[in-house]
Amino acid sequence: MLAQTPPMGWNSWNTFGWEISEELIKETADVWNDLGLLDAGYQYLVIDDCWSLKKRNEHGYLVADPYKFPNGMKAVADYVHSKGLKFGMYSCAGTMTCGGHPSSLEHEFVDAKTFADWGVDFLKYDYCYKPHNIPGHILYKRMGMALRSSGRDILFSACNWGNDKTHEWIRATGAHMYRSTGDIQDNWESIKNIALSQWNKECYSAPYCYNDIDMLVVGMYGKGNVALGGCSDEEYKTHFSLWSIMNSPLMIGCDIRNINEATRNILTNKEIIALNQDPEGRQAYSMEQWNNSDVKIYIKPISDGSFGIGFFNMGDSDGEGSLQFWDMGLTASSGYGLHLRDLWEHENIGIATEHFTCKLKPHHCKVLRAKPVKVK
Ligand code: GAL
Repeated sequence: MLAQTPPMGWNSWNTFGWEISEELIKETADVWNDLGLLDAGYQYLVIDDCWSLKKRNEHGYLVADPYKFPNGMKAVADYVHSKGLKFGMYSCAGTMTCGGHPSSLEHEFVDAKTFADWGVDFLKYDYCYKPHNIPGHILYKRMGMALRSSGRDILFSACNWGNDKTHEWIRATGAHMYRSTGDIQDNWESIKNIALSQWNKECYSAPYCYNDIDMLVVGMYGKGNVALGGCSDEEYKTHFSLWSIMNSPLMIGCDIRNINEATRNILTNKEIIALNQDPEGRQAYSMEQWNNSDVKIYIKPISDGSFGIGFFNMGDSDGEGSLQFWDMGLTASSGYGLHLRDLWEHENIGIATEHFTCKLKPHHCKVLRAKPVKVK
């Protein structure tokens, strides 16, 4: 079964847009394992929009652009598989892809079979140029059905940006993840707005179908297709922590052929990733503080009885995160406190009772793993 936990991988769009090629994909696959990405859980290497010719061939099949992919897609898939990775591709539910290439409307079954024959393991399915007369859930049900009939296990990644109340019907289409937001940009405002847009939609994410709050911009530093501004390393840490605790798929968006140590450390922080990849797949709940502070708190129940707790300063001035344990159900009379571990500092903080408070600079975060322990 696919997507027991949020899918993890890399996608070409954020940095490369339409400038994709066999060479880029091979070079990306080549560095993957040395960076420890597979070991950290990243598995799917996904080519986004603009990989095909602008026209189907005379038999109605999609054709890889021979200038970008001279040996065809099967050869690319084979290469990716030879590195122990899974291979992903992209199509669209409307009359054209967002980049103006042929999409799969009325070709769902033939395209799903083509992808299966090429060895595709993951299909991102976009929503541009959607026909007005067919509801979105039918378009996704069609491709969901086609993929399930294709003879290959293909993870179905829906991408309709949270439009048309997608969270209410997407699970029924067989999708394993669904974009619940618009497109991300490589800047703090975009990260903040995307995260806050999901407030109170926690119940719509669970194993086998996760809310996807878009690909990561960690490590882009203002370079590439969606790089509008760039972020600091602390902002990237906050971004990665939010995406992890909020159950989003973790799809890297930077150029991993050229990443620095700070980016690698963020992307491979196994203690943070463990919150995201918990097999129980429970979504975090979000909490406002009594004083309406810009420091937001997210709490994610973990299958071993512990909790991920994230404090995120969304504001532009210094802030304080203050969690009263009774707000998470831990009463003072219970005789329990929380054993706390800091997942960025990689150190145990000790046992706290009744509350925990931390000071946070603008856009900074603190992420803890908390285990209830008897204190009296
Ligand atoms: C958008 C989608 C992006 C990217 C782009 C390609 O609709 O949200 O993630 O896939 O299309 O054109």
